[in-house]
Amino acid sequence: MNLILMGLPGAGKGTQAETIVEQYHVVHISTGDMFREAMAQQTEIGIKVKSIMDQGNLVSDDVTSALVKERLAKEDVQKSGYMLDGFPRTIAQAEALDEIASELNEPISGVLYIDVPVEKLVERLSGRFICKNCGATYHKVFHLPKVEGTCDVCGAHEFYQRDDDKPEAVKNRLDVNIKMNTPLIDFYENKGLLHKINGDQDIEDVYKDVQSVIKDF
Ligand code: AP5
Ligand code: MG
Repeated sequence: MNLILMGLPGAGKGTQAETIVEQYHVVHISTGDMFREAMAQQTEIGIKVKSIMDQGNLVSDDVTSALVKERLAKEDVQKSGYMLDGFPRTIAQAEALDEIASELNEPISGVLYIDVPVEKLVERLSGRFICKNCGATYHKVFHLPKVEGTCDVCGAHEFYQRDDDKPEAVKNRLDVNIKMNTPLIDFYENKGLLHKINGDQDIEDVYKDVQSVIKDF
């Protein structure tokens, strides 16, 4: 099974991905996570993308597609399938992915578009906090750890806020992504691959809808 998770910033891609991976064992490939990892390691790419990401702009199509191409060629993906999160984000990236997928003989099974009204996204992004140790995602209102101050997944006690979740970056990030969104939805709708999921429900209910789509892949 090869999936794409689409949705505007804060729609819940990463949150749903955590549970999908647990149940279906596909390889979770988040370009945002890969760039953040590169920044933390201060690699050449990491240094190059830092200011772009902190402002909420998009990294170039060439850099992003090359990164995905390299990752999809790895053995774990060939064995277990992929779940792309946050890629593609432009038509150029979608076309690049078509090429990569056909070269690797790993066709896209379906695209899950998590649909959330734009006015809800600012609240989701500004309330997000993340476990420093394992990256599990929480929200100060909608998704608190079961034990206050302790990560449900790994038990660590330190959390952080992403630099691009600060108010100035959030607004730009939403504007940039909204502009790209409709053409990309049309692209996959025309291929008959798009499945819209109502993301404006509790996390568990969104997951039920995700499951009912995935079971047919
Ligand atoms: P990336 O890391 O992909 O960020 P994003 O697309 O902006 O999406 P987010 O990770 O912010 O949101 P999400 O949908 O994962 O939501 P989450 O589950 O965390 O990309 C970051 C940057 O990297 C980009 O801006 C760009 O610079 C660069 N980049 C990455 N990919 C690129 C590409 N392809 N091309 C070019 N540049 C690229 O949930 C959000 C919050 O809401 C959490 O607090 C969560 O607990 C809560 N929540 C989740 N679901 C629900 C629910 N159902 N109800 C209530 N709250 C919920
Ligand atoms: Mg995410």
